[in-house]
Amino acid sequence: MEDVRVALLGCGTVGSQVARLLDEQAADLTARAGAWLHLEGIAVRDINAPRDQAVDRTLLTTDASSLIDGADIVIELMGGIEPARSYILEAFEHGASVVTGNKALLAAHGPELYEAAARADVDLYYEAAVAGAVPVVYGLRESLAGDRITAVLGIVNGTTNYILDEMTTKGLEFDDVLAEAQRLGYAEADPTADVDGLDAAAKCAILASLAFHSRVAMDEVHVEGIRSITSSDIAAATRAGYVIKLIASAKRRENGIEATVGPTLIPNSHPLAGVHGPFNAVVIEAEAADRLMFYGRGAGGAPTASAVLSDVVAAASHIVEGGHAPRELIYADLPVLSLEESVARYQVEVAVDDTVGVLTEVSGIFAQHGVSISAVAQDHEKIIKGEDGLPGQAVCHLTVTTHAASHEALEATIAQLEDSDAVAGINRVIRVEEA
Ligand code: NDP
Ligand code: HSE
Repeated sequence: MEDVRVALLGCGTVGSQVARLLDEQAADLTARAGAWLHLEGIAVRDINAPRDQAVDRTLLTTDASSLIDGADIVIELMGGIEPARSYILEAFEHGASVVTGNKALLAAHGPELYEAAARADVDLYYEAAVAGAVPVVYGLRESLAGDRITAVLGIVNGTTNYILDEMTTKGLEFDDVLAEAQRLGYAEADPTADVDGLDAAAKCAILASLAFHSRVAMDEVHVEGIRSITSSDIAAATRAGYVIKLIASAKRRENGIEATVGPTLIPNSHPLAGVHGPFNAVVIEAEAADRLMFYGRGAGGAPTASAVLSDVVAAASHIVEGGHAPRELIYADLPVLSLEESVARYQVEVAVDDTVGVLTEVSGIFAQHGVSISAVAQDHEKIIKGEDGLPGQAVCHLTVTTHAASHEALEATIAQLEDSDAVAGINRVIRVEEA
């Protein structure tokens, strides 16, 4: 049986589990790949750093380039842009296939990497880059290659789903849950990429590119994180029959692709509403297949290593038997729509003076901008006390749910509401997904 030489770059959370499973599952992996997967070495920054005890420390090196030079498959699990990008390009130049879990790198430099892999006639695999163990890249690239996808909606960041879920089930505030998530090791010490939606945006760009056979860059994804979500937003959502989730959404519209990441009201009856804790899920709508859902662990050493190893087996079997991974397909070349052009349903909570005609005034402003209202709810009257402690102005809260409207029209509506004498303030504006 042929020997396929494997170089592992990185031996952290994921890399250490890849090294462990390559050893523990050697017989099965060999049978499936049709070749011995021989781990030649593991590149790290610090050879003396503590590691999972399953890692053979004699394989550790700080000389990544020498390792790449003698490899048939390079597994990049260092993360970050550089030197990961240069090492991957180096691997292609040496005729090695690459397996990576690096969504930040793919979202920023995907086209360069796909082209280099195709030029070198080797594979570039990245199942682990989106939703960890969940085989959604394979699903889009291969299982759904015969269908026309209309939408991809995902909970693709476990940290933010854990935070929103804790806020929902325990009534806690964002800062308190984040601190607890960091203490438990669910959230990174620097949680920026997760809570500000950047990690989800990188994954959204990858999903949108695959689903619509067009290039979608990370900076074309309109991103809003979850820092501004309060327990009162969550309570209002619960009362109305929704949960708030950070949703990565990629939709095919008549004039192009809409790609957004942001807090979204998901109806309780929607399959994504039942995704709890740090779990990930991606719902795909396709014309023939209808709705599909992919669900599972989106992070963690062993789950992510599972996805990496499936790619390694595929790349190894191509080395042995010929063939190659699907190439980047961008034939549709659809434009990515601006935020203003994007279309969604919204829920707007407006604090208004409780006076005659206020409902007409508010609904009239929506109508002036062509934003159609599907429902209005009014909560109990709240009396703002004056400085003297006596009852002052009566204020009530109107929750207006719209039909699909362009973001441009919604913005114009909000601006006019803010200028209206009848409006005391806009409490919240949030996207709403259909059931
Ligand atoms: P870690 O930070 O735990 O590990 C990174 C590893 O890379 C470490 O072993 C580190 O060496 C090594 N490394 C970093 N820079 C260099 C360098 N310049 N030269 C040599 N070695 C280097 O990362 P993770 O395992 O968490 O993530 C790896 C990749 O997988 C990332 O792209 C991430 O986005 C992706 N991913 C991670 C998931 C997760 O759950 N963690 C889930 C899905 C994808 P040393 O140990 O010496 O510091
Ligand atoms: N930080 C990511 C998450 C895991 O919380 O889902 C890696 O993609």
